[in-house]
Amino acid sequence: MIGIIGAMDEEVTALKEAMDVRETVERAGMNFVKGTLGSKEVTVVRSGIGKVNAGICAQILVSEFQAEVLINTGIAGSLDARIDIGDMVISTDALYHDMDATAFGYPLGEVPRMDLLAFPADERLVKQAVEANAEANPDIHTFTGRVVSGDQFVASDEVKEKILKNFGGLCTEMEGAAIAHAAYLNKVSCVIIRAISDKADGSASEDYPAFEKKAIEHSVRLVKTLAARI
Ligand code: ADE
Repeated sequence: MIGIIGAMDEEVTALKEAMDVRETVERAGMNFVKGTLGSKEVTVVRSGIGKVNAGICAQILVSEFQAEVLINTGIAGSLDARIDIGDMVISTDALYHDMDATAFGYPLGEVPRMDLLAFPADERLVKQAVEANAEANPDIHTFTGRVVSGDQFVASDEVKEKILKNFGGLCTEMEGAAIAHAAYLNKVSCVIIRAISDKADGSASEDYPAFEKKAIEHSVRLVKTLAARI
């Protein structure tokens, strides 16, 4: 089964509409919508915003609903001048930009005692996502690389530059690394697919609502095409 997580209603509504829904099961205040998308068994769920909601949601998908693949879809702020509003980002790995145990000698961003800085996406899934995107969104620029997550809506040049200097990364959002972390611990495959809604700068809070709808359309189209290929 493929588990598909979006943080917000807007991100999962279109997917639910495209599904043949069999049943909806509530756990931890989240509605897990089970059924088929195309011919594929999927469970679509709105996790809520932030890393803890996302981590809990991913774990439930694996433990209770036997998800073997986790796809995180939604929107993000661009960290890279080449990546514009409406473009797509497909993750190769994801890390926490707000994890700091440097006082104990750990690299900034690394969860202590885990021996890795960034949680990898599944290589095959990334390849399938890139191919699916070429079919679903042929006119949209697509980038493949690092996603950085934190419990912070990034909306200033100062914070954006700091994140970039510390980690690089193509885009920033608030859930992806937690889902990739859960996938890593549970040994299931994972990819994060984000459409850019803003540039994580001083205009982010204005751009975000204006471009949110378009950005969501792009990521939903890709997820539908990708599910069929998995
Ligand atoms: N999601 C969309 N835009 C974002 C931003 N600028 N920061 C964090 N999460 C986001």
